[in-house]
Amino acid sequence: MRPLIAGNWKMNGNQREAARLAEALRGGAENADLLICPPFVHIHQVAALMLGSRVAVGAQDCHAAHHGAHTGDVSAAMLRDVGATHVILGHSERRTNHGENDAAVLAKTEAALTAGLIPIICVGETEAERLSGLADSVVEKQLGGSIPYGFITAGGIVAYEPVWAIGTGRTPTDRDIAAMHATMRTALVERFGPAARTTRLLYGGSVKPSNAAAIMALPDVDGALVGGASLVAEDFLAIAGAV
Ligand code: G3H
Repeated sequence: MRPLIAGNWKMNGNQREAARLAEALRGGAENADLLICPPFVHIHQVAALMLGSRVAVGAQDCHAAHHGAHTGDVSAAMLRDVGATHVILGHSERRTNHGENDAAVLAKTEAALTAGLIPIICVGETEAERLSGLADSVVEKQLGGSIPYGFITAGGIVAYEPVWAIGTGRTPTDRDIAAMHATMRTALVERFGPAARTTRLLYGGSVKPSNAAAIMALPDVDGALVGGASLVAEDFLAIAGAV
C-alpha cells in the first residue's frame, strides 16, 4: 500500500512559521502520501494553503462530544469544518499530560468517525514496560480498548509509538519494530477480519532522514508519524523520499 508520512507539529510554530512550513511541503512526495498536523489554531490557515495540493491536514486531538459546555476543547466536527481530514488520538503526551485512558480514546475515535475524520490512534509501551517484557500485552490492551467497530472500514490508522523513543533519538531495533507491527496486524485481523490487512500501521519515535529508509522497509510498516523532524521541511521530505 502507499505509505503515509504524517507530521505531528505538536505545540510549535506561529502563523508565519506554520505558513512557511506548509508552503515548503505543498508539492507533496512522489512515493508517499503526506499529512501534516499543526496546532489547532493553525489548522484553518494551513488547510487553506494546502487546497489543491496532495498534502492532507489533520489535528492532534479532539473532544468526544459534538458540542457543548467544554471550555477550551475542540470537537471533531469543528476540525472537519476548518479543513482537517485526520485527527491523531491517544498520543502518549495526551495520555500522560491529560490522563487519557483507552476509554477516552475510544470515545474520541467514535466522535472522529462520526464527523468524517480519519483517526490515527497512537499506542506504545513505556521503557519500564518493555524491559519487563510487557510491551506486546500493553499494546494489545490499548488496541483492544480504543478501537471501535467502523474504524477499519473508515480507513482508520494505527501508530506504534514506544513512549521511550519519542523525542529521545532512540528507537527500538528493526527487529523489535517489525515484531510489534506483526503483533498489531495479527490482533487487528483477529478482531476485524481480513479488511485489517490494509489498515495502515505507522511507526513513530525519533524517525529522521538517516533511519527512515530502514524503518520504512520493514514488513507491516506502512508509514511514519514524525514529530521533531516534521518541523524541518527538508527533513520531512527526506523521510518521505526514503520510502
Ligand atoms: O507524534 C510523533 C511522535 O511523538 C514522535 O516524535 O519524532 O519527535 O520522536 P519524535
